[in-house]
Amino acid sequence: MKNVIFYFSGTGNSLALAKQITQKLGDTELISVPAYSDAAEPIKITAERIGFVFPVYFGCLPPVMKRFISNLEFGREQYIFGVANFGGGSWLAFGQLDSALAERGAALSAAFPVKMPGNYIVKYGALPQSLQNKILERAKSKADGIAEAVKGKIPSAIPRGAPPLKIFEKRLLKITEGFGKMAENFHAGENCNGCGVCAKVCPAGNISLKDSAPVWGGSCEQCMACIQWCPREAVNYADKTAKRKRYHHPEIKLSEMFRTKPD
Ligand SMILES: Cc1cc2nc3c(=O)[nH]c(=O)nc-3n(C[C@H](O)[C@H](O)[C@H](O)COP(=O)(O)O)c2cc1C
Repeated sequence: MKNVIFYFSGTGNSLALAKQITQKLGDTELISVPAYSDAAEPIKITAERIGFVFPVYFGCLPPVMKRFISNLEFGREQYIFGVANFGGGSWLAFGQLDSALAERGAALSAAFPVKMPGNYIVKYGALPQSLQNKILERAKSKADGIAEAVKGKIPSAIPRGAPPLKIFEKRLLKITEGFGKMAENFHAGENCNGCGVCAKVCPAGNISLKDSAPVWGGSCEQCMACIQWCPREAVNYADKTAKRKRYHHPEIKLSEMFRTKPD
């Protein structure tokens, strides 16, 4: 394939964008990052155009993306683009993506920020449906524009976050580095019937079933997939989420979110 797009997604927003860009671009392989993020051997990327599509977490690049990139080997003259999506803003994510690439001798050619419905249920519930629809409609036309720009290998400026944000960067990174430990806040309530959907959608493979009840390990990515995709709304985070409306991208099927393992 001439092009490759790597994505990470908890509630389908990144996957929907990545799929749309893949289809418009043609000749593009779409690969889910988490299953490869701890690959033993370095991964050599020979594609002409390389994309990274991911959500912004606490203003940052998700740690799983950073780990994945640290294991990549790039060629020469490749067009590398990032699509950061978020509820509010891309903040420090593109600068961090570019830095992660620089550590591998590569550089970001273009950055495409896309607003999507926010999914951080620990702080807020799903947006009203009409607002979600508006945001998703706009994002669709944005994704078409991204595909066109990528086809033409058009470069762009890389937003690195306003200076006040840089002051908080260390603190924000510290939060993301603590994601594993934050898994201890998840729990399943009486509604849980042991169906195992949470374990299947967990991109980190961090959930197992014990006596038909989910148990969280220490390698959480905080993507909220376990809460947002639970068909019985039985999974919650501490005492923060029980009464909040769930969200996942309306055009992404549950089965598309199942963790895929490399061959
Ligand atoms: C742990 C966590 C932290 C988040 N932090 C931010 C943030 O700092 N800024 C922002 O605009 N959106 C933030 N969001 C919202 C997501 O970036 C946004 O909803 C994204 O589209 C989700 O993509 P996905 O469905 O592919 O996982 C956060 C979401 C989660 C789960």
